[in-house]
Amino acid sequence: KQHAERQCVLDTLRLSRAQLLEVKKRMGEGMARGLARDTHSNATVKMLPTYVRSTPNGTEQGDFLALDLGGTNFRVLLVRVRSGKKQRVEMHNKIYAIPQDIMQGTGEELFDHIVHCIADFLEHMGMRGASLPLGFTFSFPCRQSRLDQGILLKWTKGFRATGCEGQDVVTLLKDAVHRHEGFDLDVVAVVNDTVGTMMTCGYEDPHCEIGLIVGTGTNACYMEEMENVELVEGNTGHMCVNMEWGAFGEHGELDDFCTPFDRTVDECSSNPGKQRYEKMISGMYLGEIVRNVLLDFTAKGLLFRGRLSERLKTRGIFETKFLSQIESDRLALRQVRSILQHLGLTSSTCDDSILVKEVCAVVSRRAAQLCGAGLAAVVDKIRQNRRLEQLRITVGVDGTLYKLHPHFSSILRETVHELAPQCEVRLLQSEDGSGKGAALITAVACRLRDGAE
Ligand code: BG6
Ligand code: GLC
Repeated sequence: KQHAERQCVLDTLRLSRAQLLEVKKRMGEGMARGLARDTHSNATVKMLPTYVRSTPNGTEQGDFLALDLGGTNFRVLLVRVRSGKKQRVEMHNKIYAIPQDIMQGTGEELFDHIVHCIADFLEHMGMRGASLPLGFTFSFPCRQSRLDQGILLKWTKGFRATGCEGQDVVTLLKDAVHRHEGFDLDVVAVVNDTVGTMMTCGYEDPHCEIGLIVGTGTNACYMEEMENVELVEGNTGHMCVNMEWGAFGEHGELDDFCTPFDRTVDECSSNPGKQRYEKMISGMYLGEIVRNVLLDFTAKGLLFRGRLSERLKTRGIFETKFLSQIESDRLALRQVRSILQHLGLTSSTCDDSILVKEVCAVVSRRAAQLCGAGLAAVVDKIRQNRRLEQLRITVGVDGTLYKLHPHFSSILRETVHELAPQCEVRLLQSEDGSGKGAALITAVACRLRDGAE
């Protein structure tokens, strides 16, 4: 009986093929609304123009700085691109912490900190005073009307620094530079991490025309026909569109598939009602969904002998890396138990370990399938744009959840294959982050700028 009761709850977290097809269909409709001029302002999936018009072609070159802000790590990078018979890229980078109080303090403090890190990096590289062109990977939704400008629409992923929303992040960065003496920056491009990732992978594989992130947050970008990008003048060629698909569901598009656990996770987040699709998929939230299921089971006496520990009531204890560890096939149950113990959930039995592992598997499978349904909508849109029976395309992918989780990528691949059978999709994992891509974009922009002068 207990078994049936548990399965009944877990079934609410299992999606059928028909439901996934419905998600794919709604994502497709959401994309169309975001692209069209008259429905854009009311759309959840914003489909933001990026002013990136092509993927790398091997002629890019020069020395560039890159910043990478918005994932697990904040990085400053020096990227040297040499063209020639065989293009070569050399990268140096340093990771800096962004303390919680700075993430949630004032915008001035945040950008002062960033400038401080850049200064430290230049010092570290023996390049003090150098003013190289800079590509700024800024992984939040930005409205762009040019490559070197980005108005932050809203913070996501727990960032809350005040006075930034509605502002151009390049101006915020430059203002901070001016507060810091003896220092100058030449900011050439603002780049979303999806776009940086697509470009990084596009350097290896010319079929790479989609970028996907499944990490702290989730999002995708792809090369769209200019004639469909109604917010930008011109009808020829392509432009990369930053979908900001994490916001899908803000108008109730996912309500039929949401569980009470999803609603609790949303309500307890720093942005209730926002980023609903992201909250069912990405690393920042999956552990919280799992924890809420475990709380429910325990309260019903189905787990941990019905004893609700303070530890289990603590938000954020299930980091993504624990999910990935618990689900690893190589792990004996004894080890699952020791992870639970490490998390402070000491009174677990062997059955408890089996159940916790099952909860993790159900929650991460749903995440990968939902993500696959979204990706299926994207590849089919590209295929239809090009009026093809069959499309071959590569997706550049990055993010800790995708990289560390033992099954996420295979479930994602299977789902896309099932929901978009006319597309042959290759998932290419980015090994170099998005900074390299940001530098390639900066290189092209510099060439165009200097050529025009
Ligand atoms: C990194 C990219 O490798 O992955 C970042 O360089 C990106 O630009 C990040 O934001 C996403 O993953 P996570 O797990 O760090 O949020
Ligand atoms: C969030 C951000 C988006 C970013 C994604 C992955 O959804 O809004 O810009 O691409 O996280 O980091």
